[in-house]
Amino acid sequence: MRTTVGIIGAGPAGLLLARLLHNAGIDSVVLESRDRAYVEQRQRAGILEQGTADVLRAAGAGGRMDREGLRHDGIELRFAGRRHRVDLPALTGGKSVLVYAQTEVCKDLVALRLKDGAPLLFEAEALAVEGAEGDRPSVRFRHEGRESVLECDHVVGCDGFWGVARRAVPAALSQAFERTYPFAWLGVLADVAPSHDELVYARHERGFALLSMRSPAVSRLYLQVPADTDPAAWPDERIWDELDRRLETPGGRRLERGPITQKSVTPMRSYVHEPMRHGRLFLAGDAAHIVPPTGAKGLNLAVGDVVTLARALVHRRDTGSDELLDAYSATCLRRVWQAERFSYDMTTMLHRSPEADGFEERLHLARLDRIATCRSAGADLAEAYTGFPVG
Ligand code: FAD
Ligand code: DHB
Repeated sequence: MRTTVGIIGAGPAGLLLARLLHNAGIDSVVLESRDRAYVEQRQRAGILEQGTADVLRAAGAGGRMDREGLRHDGIELRFAGRRHRVDLPALTGGKSVLVYAQTEVCKDLVALRLKDGAPLLFEAEALAVEGAEGDRPSVRFRHEGRESVLECDHVVGCDGFWGVARRAVPAALSQAFERTYPFAWLGVLADVAPSHDELVYARHERGFALLSMRSPAVSRLYLQVPADTDPAAWPDERIWDELDRRLETPGGRRLERGPITQKSVTPMRSYVHEPMRHGRLFLAGDAAHIVPPTGAKGLNLAVGDVVTLARALVHRRDTGSDELLDAYSATCLRRVWQAERFSYDMTTMLHRSPEADGFEERLHLARLDRIATCRSAGADLAEAYTGFPVG
Protein backbone atom coordinates (compact mmCIF):
# COMPACT_ATOMS: atom_id res chain seq x y z
CA MET A 1 0.00 0.00 0.00
CA ARG A 2 1.27 3.49 -0.83
CA THR A 3 0.25 7.02 0.18
CA THR A 4 1.69 10.51 0.49
CA VAL A 5 1.32 10.86 4.27
CA GLY A 6 1.05 7.83 6.55
CA ILE A 7 -0.72 8.75 9.79
CA ILE A 8 -0.51 6.47 12.82
CA GLY A 9 -3.40 6.94 15.28
CA ALA A 10 -6.99 8.14 14.91
CA GLY A 11 -7.19 10.33 18.00
CA PRO A 12 -7.91 14.02 17.53
CA ALA A 13 -4.39 14.69 16.15
CA GLY A 14 -4.45 11.99 13.45
CA LEU A 15 -8.06 12.54 12.42
CA LEU A 16 -7.72 16.32 12.13
CA LEU A 17 -4.42 16.08 10.24
CA ALA A 18 -6.06 13.69 7.76
CA ARG A 19 -8.93 16.16 7.32
CA LEU A 20 -6.66 19.19 6.81
CA LEU A 21 -4.58 17.28 4.23
CA HIS A 22 -7.69 15.99 2.45
CA ASN A 23 -9.03 19.55 2.17
CA ALA A 24 -5.70 20.62 0.66
CA GLY A 25 -5.72 17.75 -1.85
CA ILE A 26 -2.99 15.65 -0.17
CA ASP A 27 -3.80 11.97 0.27
CA SER A 28 -3.14 10.06 3.47
CA VAL A 29 -3.89 6.73 5.13
CA VAL A 30 -4.81 6.61 8.83
CA LEU A 31 -3.94 3.45 10.78
CA GLU A 32 -5.72 2.99 14.13
CA SER A 33 -5.05 0.02 16.40
CA ARG A 34 -8.43 0.13 18.20
CA ASP A 35 -11.98 -0.14 16.85
CA ARG A 36 -14.29 2.76 15.95
CA ALA A 37 -16.34 2.52 19.16
CA TYR A 38 -13.21 2.88 21.31
CA VAL A 39 -12.05 5.99 19.43
CA GLU A 40 -15.49 7.57 19.65
CA GLN A 41 -16.25 6.76 23.27
CA ARG A 42 -13.00 7.15 25.17
CA GLN A 43 -13.78 9.88 27.74
CA ARG A 44 -11.05 12.50 27.81
CA ALA A 45 -10.82 16.25 27.17
CA GLY A 46 -13.79 18.60 27.31
CA ILE A 47 -12.60 22.14 26.61
CA LEU A 48 -11.77 23.60 23.19
CA GLU A 49 -9.79 26.81 22.99
CA GLN A 50 -11.28 29.41 20.69
CA GLY A 51 -8.48 28.81 18.15
CA THR A 52 -9.18 25.05 18.19
CA ALA A 53 -12.87 25.66 17.50
CA ASP A 54 -11.91 28.04 14.66
CA VAL A 55 -9.65 25.37 13.11
CA LEU A 56 -12.41 22.74 13.25
CA ARG A 57 -14.89 25.18 11.72
CA ALA A 58 -12.50 26.14 8.90
CA ALA A 59 -11.88 22.43 8.26
CA GLY A 60 -15.61 21.90 7.74
CA ALA A 61 -15.94 19.94 11.00
CA GLY A 62 -17.70 22.58 13.10
CA GLY A 63 -21.39 22.09 12.26
CA ARG A 64 -22.50 20.00 15.24
CA MET A 65 -19.91 21.69 17.47
CA ASP A 66 -21.54 25.06 16.79
CA ARG A 67 -25.02 23.67 17.45
CA GLU A 68 -24.25 21.65 20.57
CA GLY A 69 -21.06 23.17 22.06
CA LEU A 70 -21.45 25.50 25.04
CA ARG A 71 -19.58 28.79 24.90
CA HIS A 72 -18.04 29.64 28.28
CA ASP A 73 -16.96 33.16 29.15
CA GLY A 74 -15.60 32.43 32.59
CA ILE A 75 -14.20 29.93 35.06
CA GLU A 76 -14.44 30.07 38.81
CA LEU A 77 -11.55 29.54 41.22
CA ARG A 78 -12.40 28.47 44.78
CA PHE A 79 -9.77 28.55 47.48
CA ALA A 80 -9.49 29.40 51.18
CA GLY A 81 -13.27 29.78 51.41
CA ARG A 82 -13.27 32.36 48.59
CA ARG A 83 -14.78 32.39 45.10
CA HIS A 84 -13.22 34.27 42.21
CA ARG A 85 -14.60 34.39 38.68
CA VAL A 86 -12.05 34.80 35.88
CA ASP A 87 -13.84 36.77 33.16
CA LEU A 88 -12.21 35.38 30.02
CA PRO A 89 -13.37 37.87 27.34
CA ALA A 90 -12.84 40.91 29.59
CA LEU A 91 -9.25 39.87 30.28
CA THR A 92 -8.28 38.71 26.78
CA GLY A 93 -9.91 41.19 24.42
CA GLY A 94 -12.90 38.95 23.72
CA LYS A 95 -11.69 35.34 23.81
CA SER A 96 -13.70 32.46 25.29
CA VAL A 97 -13.67 28.63 25.26
CA LEU A 98 -16.13 26.00 24.10
CA VAL A 99 -17.32 22.99 26.09
CA TYR A 100 -17.45 20.24 23.46
CA ALA A 101 -16.08 16.81 24.28
CA GLN A 102 -13.16 15.06 22.58
CA THR A 103 -15.49 12.11 21.95
CA GLU A 104 -17.71 14.37 19.85
CA VAL A 105 -14.77 15.93 17.96
CA CYS A 106 -13.61 12.42 17.08
CA LYS A 107 -17.10 11.28 16.03
CA ASP A 108 -17.44 14.32 13.73
CA LEU A 109 -14.00 13.78 12.14
CA VAL A 110 -14.49 10.01 11.68
CA ALA A 111 -17.87 10.63 10.02
CA LEU A 112 -16.35 13.17 7.61
CA ARG A 113 -13.46 10.88 6.75
CA LEU A 114 -15.78 7.96 5.98
CA LYS A 115 -18.13 10.22 4.00
CA ASP A 116 -15.15 11.36 1.91
CA GLY A 117 -14.36 7.70 1.26
CA ALA A 118 -10.78 8.36 2.41
CA PRO A 119 -8.74 5.52 3.97
CA LEU A 120 -9.12 5.09 7.74
CA LEU A 121 -8.28 1.57 8.91
CA PHE A 122 -9.53 0.54 12.35
CA GLU A 123 -7.93 -2.41 14.16
CA ALA A 124 -4.77 -1.74 12.14
CA GLU A 125 -1.86 -1.72 14.55
CA ALA A 126 1.38 -0.03 13.51
CA LEU A 127 4.29 -2.22 14.53
CA ALA A 128 7.23 -0.01 13.50
CA VAL A 129 8.24 3.01 11.43
CA GLU A 130 11.10 2.16 9.10
CA GLY A 131 13.46 4.21 6.93
CA ALA A 132 12.68 7.61 8.50
CA GLU A 133 16.15 8.87 7.53
CA GLY A 134 15.65 8.14 3.82
CA ASP A 135 13.13 9.48 1.31
CA ARG A 136 10.90 6.35 1.34
CA PRO A 137 9.77 5.92 4.95
CA SER A 138 7.23 3.19 5.70
CA VAL A 139 5.01 1.84 8.43
CA ARG A 140 4.83 -1.87 9.09
CA PHE A 141 1.38 -2.75 10.43
CA ARG A 142 -0.96 -5.64 11.20
CA HIS A 143 -4.53 -5.62 9.87
CA GLU A 144 -7.06 -8.46 9.61
CA GLY A 145 -4.46 -10.96 10.78
CA ARG A 146 -1.90 -10.02 8.10
CA GLU A 147 1.25 -7.94 8.22
CA SER A 148 1.52 -5.25 5.54
CA VAL A 149 3.68 -2.24 4.71
CA LEU A 150 2.44 1.29 4.10
CA GLU A 151 4.95 3.19 1.95
CA CYS A 152 4.85 6.98 2.30
CA ASP A 153 6.59 10.24 1.50
CA HIS A 154 6.17 11.28 5.13
CA VAL A 155 5.05 9.46 8.30
CA VAL A 156 3.30 11.19 11.18
CA GLY A 157 3.13 9.58 14.61
CA CYS A 158 -0.18 10.66 16.16
CA ASP A 159 -0.27 7.49 18.23
CA GLY A 160 -0.32 8.92 21.74
CA PHE A 161 2.08 8.45 24.62
CA TRP A 162 2.16 4.65 24.36
CA GLY A 163 2.53 4.50 20.56
CA VAL A 164 5.39 3.10 18.44
CA ALA A 165 6.38 6.12 16.32
CA ARG A 166 8.55 7.82 18.94
CA ARG A 167 10.66 4.64 19.22
CA ALA A 168 11.88 5.18 15.65
CA VAL A 169 13.88 8.22 16.80
CA PRO A 170 17.36 6.93 17.76
CA ALA A 171 18.03 7.22 21.50
CA ALA A 172 21.21 9.19 20.82
CA LEU A 173 19.17 11.93 19.12
CA SER A 174 16.28 11.96 21.65
CA GLN A 175 15.87 13.98 24.78
CA ALA A 176 12.96 13.47 27.16
CA PHE A 177 11.96 15.94 29.86
CA GLU A 178 9.59 14.58 32.46
CA ARG A 179 7.76 15.09 35.79
CA THR A 180 5.36 12.74 37.49
CA TYR A 181 3.06 13.94 40.26
CA PRO A 182 2.26 12.13 43.53
CA PHE A 183 -1.49 12.26 42.79
CA ALA A 184 -4.02 11.39 40.09
CA TRP A 185 -7.56 12.39 39.03
CA LEU A 186 -10.61 10.29 39.67
CA GLY A 187 -12.96 11.38 36.87
CA VAL A 188 -16.68 10.65 36.73
CA LEU A 189 -19.46 11.25 34.27
CA ALA A 190 -22.91 11.73 35.83
CA ASP A 191 -26.37 12.01 34.31
CA VAL A 192 -27.29 15.18 36.15
CA ALA A 193 -27.41 18.85 35.19
CA PRO A 194 -24.18 20.67 36.22
CA SER A 195 -24.62 22.39 39.59
CA HIS A 196 -22.85 25.51 38.33
CA ASP A 197 -23.09 27.05 34.87
CA GLU A 198 -19.32 27.56 34.53
CA LEU A 199 -16.33 25.33 35.34
CA VAL A 200 -15.19 25.44 38.97
CA TYR A 201 -11.54 24.73 39.88
CA ALA A 202 -11.28 24.25 43.66
CA ARG A 203 -8.21 24.09 45.84
CA HIS A 204 -9.16 22.58 49.20
CA GLU A 205 -7.41 21.27 52.31
CA ARG A 206 -8.60 17.79 51.27
CA GLY A 207 -7.31 18.16 47.69
CA PHE A 208 -8.32 19.53 44.29
CA ALA A 209 -11.79 19.19 42.77
CA LEU A 210 -13.12 20.25 39.36
CA LEU A 211 -16.70 20.70 38.30
CA SER A 212 -17.08 20.49 34.54
CA MET A 213 -19.75 19.33 32.14
CA ARG A 214 -20.45 17.65 28.83
CA SER A 215 -23.90 19.10 28.15
CA PRO A 216 -26.73 20.83 30.02
CA ALA A 217 -27.76 17.36 31.24
CA VAL A 218 -24.39 15.68 31.89
CA SER A 219 -21.81 16.62 34.55
CA ARG A 220 -18.11 15.80 34.40
CA LEU A 221 -16.39 15.90 37.79
CA TYR A 222 -12.87 15.24 38.99
CA LEU A 223 -11.27 14.64 42.40
CA GLN A 224 -7.58 14.61 43.28
CA VAL A 225 -6.75 11.13 44.63
CA PRO A 226 -3.46 9.36 45.52
CA ALA A 227 -1.53 8.14 42.45
CA ASP A 228 -2.26 4.41 42.93
CA THR A 229 -6.02 4.73 43.56
CA ASP A 230 -8.38 1.92 42.55
CA PRO A 231 -11.68 3.46 41.36
CA ALA A 232 -13.50 0.55 43.05
CA ALA A 233 -12.49 2.11 46.39
CA TRP A 234 -14.76 5.04 45.53
CA PRO A 235 -18.44 4.08 45.66
CA ASP A 236 -20.75 6.76 44.25
CA GLU A 237 -21.87 8.18 47.62
CA ARG A 238 -18.25 8.63 48.70
CA ILE A 239 -17.53 10.57 45.50
CA TRP A 240 -20.50 12.91 45.94
CA ASP A 241 -19.71 13.48 49.63
CA GLU A 242 -16.11 14.33 48.79
CA LEU A 243 -17.11 16.65 45.94
CA ASP A 244 -19.50 18.44 48.32
CA ARG A 245 -16.72 18.98 50.84
CA ARG A 246 -14.15 20.25 48.36
CA LEU A 247 -16.47 22.43 46.29
CA GLU A 248 -18.03 23.95 49.41
CA THR A 249 -18.75 27.66 49.58
CA PRO A 250 -19.73 29.64 52.67
CA GLY A 251 -23.49 29.10 52.96
CA GLY A 252 -23.38 27.35 49.56
CA ARG A 253 -25.62 24.65 48.17
CA ARG A 254 -24.80 20.96 47.90
CA LEU A 255 -24.27 19.51 44.42
CA GLU A 256 -27.18 17.99 42.56
CA ARG A 257 -26.56 14.22 42.52
CA GLY A 258 -27.38 11.79 39.74
CA PRO A 259 -26.39 8.36 38.42
CA ILE A 260 -22.64 8.00 37.81
CA THR A 261 -22.20 6.32 34.43
CA GLN A 262 -18.38 6.18 34.15
CA LYS A 263 -15.49 6.25 36.60
CA SER A 264 -11.74 6.19 35.89
CA VAL A 265 -8.39 7.24 37.32
CA THR A 266 -5.98 9.33 35.21
CA PRO A 267 -2.31 9.59 36.19
CA MET A 268 -0.70 13.03 36.05
CA ARG A 269 2.44 13.51 34.02
CA SER A 270 4.41 16.22 32.24
CA TYR A 271 6.52 14.93 29.33
CA VAL A 272 8.21 16.46 26.29
CA HIS A 273 10.18 14.57 23.65
CA GLU A 274 12.68 16.67 21.71
CA PRO A 275 12.92 16.91 18.79
CA MET A 276 9.42 16.32 17.36
CA ARG A 277 10.86 15.25 14.04
CA HIS A 278 13.39 12.71 12.80
CA GLY A 279 14.04 12.77 9.05
CA ARG A 280 10.67 12.13 7.40
CA LEU A 281 8.97 11.08 10.63
CA PHE A 282 7.01 13.75 12.54
CA LEU A 283 5.50 13.39 16.02
CA ALA A 284 2.30 15.23 16.91
CA GLY A 285 0.06 15.47 19.99
CA ASP A 286 0.48 13.09 22.92
CA ALA A 287 3.06 11.07 20.96
CA ALA A 288 5.42 14.00 21.52
CA HIS A 289 4.22 15.61 24.74
CA ILE A 290 1.92 15.13 27.73
CA VAL A 291 0.61 17.78 30.09
CA PRO A 292 -1.20 17.14 33.37
CA PRO A 293 -4.89 17.80 32.62
CA THR A 294 -5.37 20.87 34.89
CA GLY A 295 -6.08 23.69 32.45
CA ALA A 296 -7.24 21.41 29.60
CA LYS A 297 -4.31 21.90 27.23
CA GLY A 298 -3.68 18.34 25.90
CA LEU A 299 -6.15 18.20 23.03
CA ASN A 300 -5.60 21.84 22.11
CA LEU A 301 -1.84 21.29 21.85
CA ALA A 302 -2.41 18.32 19.57
CA VAL A 303 -4.52 20.53 17.29
CA GLY A 304 -1.81 23.20 17.19
CA ASP A 305 0.80 20.62 16.15
CA VAL A 306 -1.19 19.26 13.22
CA VAL A 307 -2.16 22.74 11.99
CA THR A 308 1.55 23.62 11.85
CA LEU A 309 2.39 20.31 10.18
CA ALA A 310 -0.39 20.45 7.60
CA ARG A 311 0.71 23.96 6.63
CA ALA A 312 4.31 22.74 6.24
CA LEU A 313 3.30 19.73 4.11
CA VAL A 314 1.15 21.94 1.86
CA HIS A 315 4.03 24.41 1.54
CA ARG A 316 6.31 21.59 0.43
CA ARG A 317 3.79 20.32 -2.11
CA ASP A 318 3.31 23.87 -3.49
CA THR A 319 6.93 25.10 -3.50
CA GLY A 320 9.11 21.99 -3.18
CA SER A 321 10.72 23.63 -0.16
CA ASP A 322 11.33 21.76 3.13
CA GLU A 323 11.77 25.05 4.99
CA LEU A 324 8.58 24.80 7.09
CA LEU A 325 9.01 21.06 7.70
CA ASP A 326 12.53 21.79 8.94
CA ALA A 327 11.09 24.40 11.32
CA TYR A 328 8.22 22.14 12.53
CA SER A 329 9.79 20.87 15.74
CA ALA A 330 11.11 24.23 16.94
CA THR A 331 7.88 26.02 16.00
CA CYS A 332 5.73 23.54 17.95
CA LEU A 333 8.06 23.26 20.93
CA ARG A 334 7.78 26.97 21.72
CA ARG A 335 4.02 26.62 22.18
CA VAL A 336 4.36 23.21 23.85
CA TRP A 337 6.65 24.61 26.54
CA GLN A 338 4.26 27.50 27.21
CA ALA A 339 1.49 24.95 27.74
CA GLU A 340 3.78 22.78 29.88
CA ARG A 341 4.56 25.77 32.08
CA PHE A 342 0.89 26.77 32.39
CA SER A 343 -0.30 23.21 33.13
CA TYR A 344 2.45 22.73 35.72
CA ASP A 345 1.57 26.04 37.41
CA MET A 346 -2.15 25.26 37.44
CA THR A 347 -1.50 21.76 38.77
CA THR A 348 0.85 22.75 41.58
CA MET A 349 -1.20 25.81 42.54
CA LEU A 350 -4.51 23.93 42.80
CA HIS A 351 -3.51 20.51 44.22
CA ARG A 352 -2.36 19.53 47.71
CA SER A 353 0.90 17.65 47.32
CA PRO A 354 1.90 15.22 50.07
CA GLU A 355 5.44 16.45 49.41
CA ALA A 356 4.75 20.19 49.80
CA ASP A 357 5.55 21.93 53.07
CA GLY A 358 3.71 24.86 54.66
CA PHE A 359 5.91 27.37 52.86
CA GLU A 360 4.97 26.03 49.44
CA GLU A 361 1.30 25.78 50.40
CA ARG A 362 1.27 29.46 51.30
CA LEU A 363 3.02 30.41 48.07
CA HIS A 364 0.26 28.65 46.09
CA LEU A 365 -2.42 30.47 48.06
CA ALA A 366 -0.58 33.76 47.52
CA ARG A 367 -0.56 33.09 43.79
CA LEU A 368 -4.29 32.45 43.76
CA ASP A 369 -4.83 35.64 45.79
CA ARG A 370 -2.75 37.56 43.23
CA ILE A 371 -4.82 36.19 40.33
CA ALA A 372 -7.99 37.23 42.17
CA THR A 373 -6.82 40.76 42.96
CA CYS A 374 -4.46 41.86 40.19
CA ARG A 375 -5.77 42.35 36.68
CA SER A 376 -2.51 41.50 34.90
CA ALA A 377 -2.16 38.23 36.90
CA GLY A 378 -5.75 37.34 35.99
CA ALA A 379 -5.12 38.28 32.36
CA ASP A 380 -2.05 36.03 32.23
CA LEU A 381 -4.17 33.06 33.34
CA ALA A 382 -7.06 33.98 31.03
CA GLU A 383 -4.78 34.31 27.99
CA ALA A 384 -3.16 30.95 28.64
CA TYR A 385 -6.53 29.28 29.31
CA THR A 386 -8.10 30.55 26.09
CA GLY A 387 -5.02 29.52 24.10
CA PHE A 388 -1.50 30.37 22.96
CA PRO A 389 -1.15 31.40 19.31
CA VAL A 390 -0.23 28.64 16.85
CA GLY A 391 3.15 29.36 15.22
P1 FAD B 1 -4.66 10.10 21.47
O1 FAD B 1 -6.00 10.70 21.70
O2 FAD B 1 -4.03 9.33 22.59
O3 FAD B 1 -4.78 9.19 20.20
C1 FAD B 1 -3.78 8.28 19.82
C2 FAD B 1 -4.41 7.18 19.02
O4 FAD B 1 -3.39 6.35 18.50
C3 FAD B 1 -5.33 6.30 19.83
O5 FAD B 1 -6.59 6.17 19.22
C4 FAD B 1 -4.59 4.97 19.90
O6 FAD B 1 -5.48 3.87 19.96
C5 FAD B 1 -3.79 5.01 18.61
N1 FAD B 1 -2.59 4.17 18.63
C6 FAD B 1 -1.70 3.99 19.65
N2 FAD B 1 -0.73 3.15 19.28
C7 FAD B 1 -1.00 2.78 18.00
C8 FAD B 1 -0.37 1.90 17.07
N3 FAD B 1 0.75 1.24 17.39
N4 FAD B 1 -0.92 1.76 15.85
C9 FAD B 1 -2.05 2.41 15.49
N5 FAD B 1 -2.69 3.25 16.35
C10 FAD B 1 -2.18 3.43 17.58
N6 FAD B 1 -6.86 16.61 28.00
C11 FAD B 1 -7.58 17.65 28.32
O7 FAD B 1 -7.37 18.72 27.74
N7 FAD B 1 -8.56 17.52 29.28
C12 FAD B 1 -8.83 16.31 29.90
O8 FAD B 1 -9.73 16.20 30.70
C13 FAD B 1 -8.08 15.20 29.56
N8 FAD B 1 -8.31 13.98 30.14
C14 FAD B 1 -7.52 12.91 29.77
C15 FAD B 1 -7.73 11.64 30.34
C16 FAD B 1 -6.92 10.55 29.99
C17 FAD B 1 -7.17 9.18 30.59
C18 FAD B 1 -5.88 10.74 29.06
C19 FAD B 1 -4.97 9.57 28.70
C20 FAD B 1 -5.69 12.00 28.48
C21 FAD B 1 -6.50 13.09 28.84
N9 FAD B 1 -6.33 14.36 28.24
C22 FAD B 1 -7.08 15.41 28.60
C23 FAD B 1 -5.40 14.60 27.20
C24 FAD B 1 -6.06 14.59 25.82
O9 FAD B 1 -7.13 13.69 25.81
C25 FAD B 1 -4.97 14.22 24.86
O10 FAD B 1 -4.01 15.25 24.89
C26 FAD B 1 -5.47 13.99 23.43
O11 FAD B 1 -6.21 12.80 23.36
C27 FAD B 1 -4.28 13.92 22.47
O12 FAD B 1 -4.71 13.48 21.22
P2 FAD B 1 -3.77 12.60 20.29
O13 FAD B 1 -4.54 12.41 19.05
O14 FAD B 1 -2.42 13.17 20.27
O15 FAD B 1 -3.60 11.22 21.08
C1 DHB C 1 -12.08 19.15 31.70
C2 DHB C 1 -10.83 18.65 31.88
C3 DHB C 1 -9.82 19.51 32.29
O1 DHB C 1 -8.58 19.04 32.43
C4 DHB C 1 -10.06 20.83 32.55
O2 DHB C 1 -9.06 21.62 32.98
C5 DHB C 1 -11.31 21.31 32.36
C6 DHB C 1 -12.33 20.47 31.91
C7 DHB C 1 -13.17 18.25 31.26
O3 DHB C 1 -12.90 17.07 31.05
O4 DHB C 1 -14.30 18.69 31.16
